This record gives sequence, structure tokens and C-alpha cells, in this order.
Amino acid sequence: MAPILELRDVEAGYGPFRALFGVSLTVEPGEAVALIGANGAGKTTLARVASGLLAPSSGTVLVDGTGMAEAAAWRFVRTGVVHAPEGRSVFATLSVEDNLALSFQRAFGRAGLAGALRRAYELFPRLGQRRTQIAGTLSGGEQRMLSLARVLVESPRLLIADELSLGLAPLVVDQVFATLGRIREAGTALLIVEQQVGHALELCDRAAVLEHGLITWQGPAESAGAALESRLFTTGAAH
Ligand SMILES: Nc1ncnc2c1ncn2[C@@H]1O[C@H](COP(=O)(O)OP(=O)(O)OP(=O)(O)O)[C@@H](O)[C@H]1O
Ligand SMILES: [Mg+2]
Repeated sequence: MAPILELRDVEAGYGPFRALFGVSLTVEPGEAVALIGANGAGKTTLARVASGLLAPSSGTVLVDGTGMAEAAAWRFVRTGVVHAPEGRSVFATLSVEDNLALSFQRAFGRAGLAGALRRAYELFPRLGQRRTQIAGTLSGGEQRMLSLARVLVESPRLLIADELSLGLAPLVVDQVFATLGRIREAGTALLIVEQQVGHALELCDRAAVLEHGLITWQGPAESAGAALESRLFTTGAAH
């Protein structure tokens, strides 16, 4: 079976600035891969290329073995590749339930709406308690949950998640990772960009380390801890 996602020698950047230099990475169906790297290493850029939000300047992105000729996020979504962006994306003036209903009605139609709302409130009970609250008045963490609920409930085949835990309280981070674990068990592949390296490695099968736009280490998640430690030590000593 072809990998669900394959990046082949991808270069990408912003104008004249190059953020990725010949990156190759695969995610097999049902596999969970952690992408680890320092601030500015190019993780978000890679996540955006992998979900069709940013066109590579050279190289190829393949989904199910088929080259995606152009970066068009809707085309990736149609194949079940979904991107949960860094930060929050909610409609501030709408209620929690209206925010959810807007996404779910598009994804599941009117008939599927009630079931999708139920699943979202199961994933995040806090949202159920606050269903009539205007989204702009939710706490930062609650807004994050709301934007997450909108993508998670669609049971994507591959979820590309960029710093899901950023700015969340530790208890909520645990809850988010527990949710990711369930989604994984249900068969969704994951490409996880995370600063909570411990959580990410526990969840994932494989890890890739990105440094200055290059993948410098790839291997099983259980070996990543030692690999990272020696790298941090070397970089620390060099400075
Ligand atoms: N829109 C942009 N225009 C110009 N440069 C950008 C843009 N977005 C990112 N960059 C640059 O590309 C490089 C990689 O950024 P990227 O956001 O991919 O890093 P990251 O690994 O996600 O970092 P972080 O951990 O801080 O989120 C950085 O040097 C950044 O300044
Ligand atoms: Mg980033």
C-alpha cells in the first residue's frame, strides 16, 4: 500500500527565503509520526506543505501515491488529509454551537449534524457546558478546544496537527493527547508537530527531527529521546 503522505525532496519558502531544503518524509496509513525541532526549524512550513496550504518550490507531495500537482487545501481535505493549524480559528461573534454547526453541516449535511455535535461534546465536555456562550468570550484554552473539535470530529484519514497543545493547561493537554490516542486507535494517521515532546513520542510510532530546514534524524519514537539528548548536548556545546 502506498504511504498516505509522501514528501519527496521538498523545498519550500517565502519569497526568496528558503525554509525547507530537500525534505523527504512519509506517513503510512494508520501510522503516527512526530515532527520535532526548535523554533524556526521549519515545522509549520512542512505542515503547511503537507496539507496543501503552501506550494513547494521544488519536489513533490504525494497522497496515496498520487502527486498533488498543485497546493490546493480543499483537494487534500477531500482525500481525508486535514490540517489543524497553529493557534485558534473560531468565529468570535457566534456561539460555540453555531461555530460547530457551521463546520459540521458542511461536512455531514443537516442529517448528520446532531450526531456530530454529540461526538464533539463527548470529545470536549467543556464545550457542551458552554454551547450557548459566544465563542469570543471563551478562555484561550476553550477556543483552542473549539477549533480542534471542528476538525477532529470529521475523522480524517490523516490529521496534520501543528502545536495542538500550545497555550493549554497541563490537564487540558492530557485530555487533548487522550483524544488523539482515541483517534489513532480508530485508524487515523497522525503527523504531529509538538513542543510537548514526551507526550508526542509516547503517542507516535516514529519521529523525525528537523533542523534548519533539513531532516537530520528519523527513527522509531522510542529511540528519539536518546537521539535528541545527544543532539541537544552537541548543539549546546557548540554555542
Ligand atoms: N510568511 C513568512 N514569510 C517569511 N518567512 C517566514 C514566513 N513564515 C515562516 N517564515 C520563516 O521560515 C522559517 C521556518 O518557520 P516555521 O514557522 O516553519 O518554523 P517552526 O519550526 O514552525 O517554528 P516554531 O516552533 O517557532 O513554530 C523561520 O525562519 C520563519 O521566520
Ligand atoms: Mg510552528
